[in-house]
Amino acid sequence: MIQAIEWIEDDAPAVRIIDQTVLPAVESYLDLRTVDELVDAIARLAVRGAPALGAAGGYGVALAERQAAREGWGQARLAAEIERVALARPTAVNLEWGASRVDAVRREGEGRALEEAHRIVREDEAANRELSRLGADWLLARTEKKALRALTHCNTGALATAAWGTAYGVLKELHDRGALEMVYVDETRPLLQGTRLTSWELAQDGIAHMVQVDGAASSTILRGLVDFVVIGADRIAANGDTANKIGSVAAALAAQRAGIPFLVAAPMSTVDVGLASGNLIEIEERAESEVLAVSGTSMSAPGVHGFNPAFDVTPHDLIDGIVTERGVIEPHRTQPAFT
Ligand code: MRU
Repeated sequence: MIQAIEWIEDDAPAVRIIDQTVLPAVESYLDLRTVDELVDAIARLAVRGAPALGAAGGYGVALAERQAAREGWGQARLAAEIERVALARPTAVNLEWGASRVDAVRREGEGRALEEAHRIVREDEAANRELSRLGADWLLARTEKKALRALTHCNTGALATAAWGTAYGVLKELHDRGALEMVYVDETRPLLQGTRLTSWELAQDGIAHMVQVDGAASSTILRGLVDFVVIGADRIAANGDTANKIGSVAAALAAQRAGIPFLVAAPMSTVDVGLASGNLIEIEERAESEVLAVSGTSMSAPGVHGFNPAFDVTPHDLIDGIVTERGVIEPHRTQPAFT
């Protein structure tokens, strides 16, 4: 299985990531040895996807500690560098969650930070496998069909997690049970996580799929070409409102109109129980050049401005199910109780 992020202890310790900015054309790895390098990789989306960012946050604390020892930082500088990692991107709660979890234990002894970061990675794989199983069960029961056609948005596979995947994991589980006929993959503008990453993973797993432009999603759903929609999440508020890659809410609206299930698949580390509702979620706005240019070539008239929100929020009443490793919650029916 692809490993998006790991810790290596060569001559100098590093966070090793697969560089997701150049996939699938080039399969190359980056060894990040400083906080600056890690923060830059997170900001450029060389490592991305909420659960993978949770691992990056955890390993980031261990990396900062090692750099502190090498360069003689005091506690104040170390705390500031850890905060820089935690806040490198604002929307996926996992990043801050991973960094805070490891930060909270790092004073307990040498090696404790790294041990906790490794634990985050192990737990994420276990959670993803469990939620995939539960999500597949729920979809098969809900649709009462034996072979399903899916639509998904962005990338939620092994690349976006510590291992296995979330929404992608549900698709893989259905495929392994012989219950998945076809996946419509939204290209996911502007950085093409669907075209470049999800499609690459699906091809490796031998799962039948087609990539479509994001604008096709609602029509594909309304034409009856899919039986369900499954997406991942970057942050889920206590009431079930869900932030995910821009374009997700359009698919949810169409799914509701078409009367097909709209499922959110995410580990509990993506649930922000302290946040009452989705309108409190900070939505990352990225550079306008990502929208206005394709492969570095400008597509717009000079002086035109771009609007580039990276995420949207799907209100809970449009969501039929949120599956975590603890079970499925149906937020459109009842107030969710995440425990
Ligand atoms: O900007 P990205 O590529 O980090 O956005 C990723 C997504 O929106 C994913 O759907 C989400 O993080 C879930 S990944 C299992």
